[in-house]
Amino acid sequence: KVIDGTGKYLFPGLIDVHTHLREPGQEEKEEIATGARAALRGGFTTILAMPNTKPVLDQRALVEFVVLQGERAGAARVYPIGAITKGQSGKELTEMVDLASGGAKAFSDDGRGVQNAELFRLALEYVKLTGLPLISHCEDEGLAQGGSMHKGEVSARLGLKGIPSSAEAVMVARDLILAEETSGKLHLAHISAKESVELIRAAKKRGVDVTAEVNPHHLIFTDEALLDSEYNTSYKVNPPLGSREDQQALLGGVLDGTLDMLATDHAPHTWEEKMKPFGEAPFGIAGLETALAAVWTYLVKPGKLSVETLIKNWSLNPSRRFNLPGGAVQEGGIADVVLFDPERIEKVEPGWFASKSLNTPFLGRELQGFSSMVWVGGELRYQRDQDKIWQEINGVKVQRDIVKYRMNRRTIECLF
Ligand code: DOR
Ligand code: ZN
Ligand code: ZN
Repeated sequence: KVIDGTGKYLFPGLIDVHTHLREPGQEEKEEIATGARAALRGGFTTILAMPNTKPVLDQRALVEFVVLQGERAGAARVYPIGAITKGQSGKELTEMVDLASGGAKAFSDDGRGVQNAELFRLALEYVKLTGLPLISHCEDEGLAQGGSMHKGEVSARLGLKGIPSSAEAVMVARDLILAEETSGKLHLAHISAKESVELIRAAKKRGVDVTAEVNPHHLIFTDEALLDSEYNTSYKVNPPLGSREDQQALLGGVLDGTLDMLATDHAPHTWEEKMKPFGEAPFGIAGLETALAAVWTYLVKPGKLSVETLIKNWSLNPSRRFNLPGGAVQEGGIADVVLFDPERIEKVEPGWFASKSLNTPFLGRELQGFSSMVWVGGELRYQRDQDKIWQEINGVKVQRDIVKYRMNRRTIECLF
């Protein structure tokens, strides 16, 4: 069968190294299967699942469970990330070698970060036995404590407690110094502050073995989004949306290769939880289904980012760093490929998602640039023109005539 790809791109399958799938333990937010289907819709053929589930992925059997559920789903490839410390308590290291033989592709205490420098140093040494990268969440809990958005002019105006940039930057500095000292393999998650970009740039020049990711929401939005959104909690994310200077520095970091990966930090939460007041709602943006289209709409189309850099940072570099299949379209290579339609426009609405959650600032907006067909290992696993209403199939209550999509305390009455 011949497929007409006129006007479309054939991309190597995108690889997202930072997703939260919530299974086991919080299946009302996301299951491995629903997350893996959301990934396909979003153009991802491979995703890495963070270990801050309930229980935490700190044992081989749990890591193997994620592998198995991923295979059962038959959608995007799903690989688990093992925890660095037992229960992510920051106290005792997990059996990383054992977790790696169970299928873990990296290690992280994402959501918290390992606060103790000595333990993180030890983890950098220990992880060498596996050859896998150690992923840092880069947050000093003491400095960040209690804040719900970026600390600056906007937080002062809104009267919300801010998280200073230093909460991230001091951890980035610490991790880089320790990686240099131990020759460990480090990956820095969700870089959001200009100070961090500078530190990583300098470390790379010195030859430190570090890679770093940036999330689309930090490139597209700033904390000013909160000024005209009436405390919309779909903008509440950790690390928080930064200033315009941060945003500029992040884009500069992507363009000169300092930030060598894009990643969604897909963090699904229930509508009910995100309806809480801004200070109390959980951090996180669901990103798998909108991230590629958002980057296309806001960065590639306006000429801020090239298609080549997009593919390098979302497919080639992740596949190299985490030793994953896919990542390049080549003869004899693995056929994880995406037929991408740069002209397709869709409106992001309730009922549109394959994910169980819809906590995204793009709700109610139109985006351009979506996957048309997705193959994993040569098998056609997703076709947009045969899409289903996944949320109804998943048993998620969907009301399609919601007037307002805002997740904030002032519009509770409009929502389901
Ligand atoms: O916004 C976030 N959500 N940041 C994190 O670090 C954790 C994540 C989550 O698990 O919801
Ligand atoms: Zn994190
Ligand atoms: Zn995360």
